[in-house]
Amino acid sequence: MMMKKATVTALLSAFGIAALSAHAADTELNIYSARHYQTDEALYGNFTKQTGIKVNRIEAKEDELLERIRNEGANSPADIFVTVDISRLANADKMGIFAPVKSAVLEQRIPANLRTERWFSFSQRARIIVYNPELVKAEQVQTYEQLADPALKGKVCTRSGSHPYNLSLGAALIKHNGEEATAKWASGVVANFARAPKGGDTDQIKAVAAGECGVAIANSYYLARLMNSPRPADQEVVANVKAVWPNQQSWGTHINVSGAGMLKSAPNKEAAVKFLEYLASDEAQTYFANGNNEWPVVPSVKVANAALDKLGEFKADSIQIGELADTVAEAQKIYDRAGYR
Ligand SMILES: [Fe+2]
Repeated sequence: MMMKKATVTALLSAFGIAALSAHAADTELNIYSARHYQTDEALYGNFTKQTGIKVNRIEAKEDELLERIRNEGANSPADIFVTVDISRLANADKMGIFAPVKSAVLEQRIPANLRTERWFSFSQRARIIVYNPELVKAEQVQTYEQLADPALKGKVCTRSGSHPYNLSLGAALIKHNGEEATAKWASGVVANFARAPKGGDTDQIKAVAAGECGVAIANSYYLARLMNSPRPADQEVVANVKAVWPNQQSWGTHINVSGAGMLKSAPNKEAAVKFLEYLASDEAQTYFANGNNEWPVVPSVKVANAALDKLGEFKADSIQIGELADTVAEAQKIYDRAGYR
């Protein structure tokens, strides 16, 4: 309780001036971000250069930021909330924190399936399959559905089923295959585990390389990061695994996103919309996506990234992300029943 109070007070004093003064044109913008990469400095700096709007940033874990926003209520100085993953954006939206944003720029730049009325995607990552060719055959691991095939018993590794990345994938499976089939799938995957879920996606890739697992699911940028790494140990991991774009013959590879929305209580709404539009600009798209080995959402923007180039083109799932967001809670229930912890 004491901690929370101290945090709120610190925040208010940090943002006090911006929160209390109302101007015709906003001169400041307050961003709460659960996403941080080195290239973000240039990203925010260039926005200030272009608009003269000063950016104040609070970076922390997702839950902590949402807790702050909840505690601050209508007095929150936050204008923009940035985070990764569809299920996390959905959670924030369910809290009712986002305001609808109507912007011709955003509508024109961001494909319709990658935005909702209240939050927008600014980079995309694919949930891919990584396998060890010494342990499983390529044709055994071409789809998410195959990971539940008894032929892969004792071979499958994933991070926790409760992790947002896996919940968002579960939501996609429910949308495409239905609840019953997804429940069966989840039980099948659990029955195929090489070990109880632990660690992050990079740990799964390393375990596949080491032969502890035959096959794993991971976000594309984790593999791309290893591919682009100069470290010999990382290069050795890459040499021992192969990557698959799942579901190329059916509904396409599951896509997740980084995204942002404007807060209902935003004191600087004009600046907030300007910032969202800036994130969709050619320059910002490059920083935002490439900084984490992701793809831009604006189709005309191409990033130069050796690993992504090498991974090549693929068919992505084109489902509306808002629909996936609505299904995340169902995915959690199905995983719980299947014992996919
Ligand atoms: Fe991640």
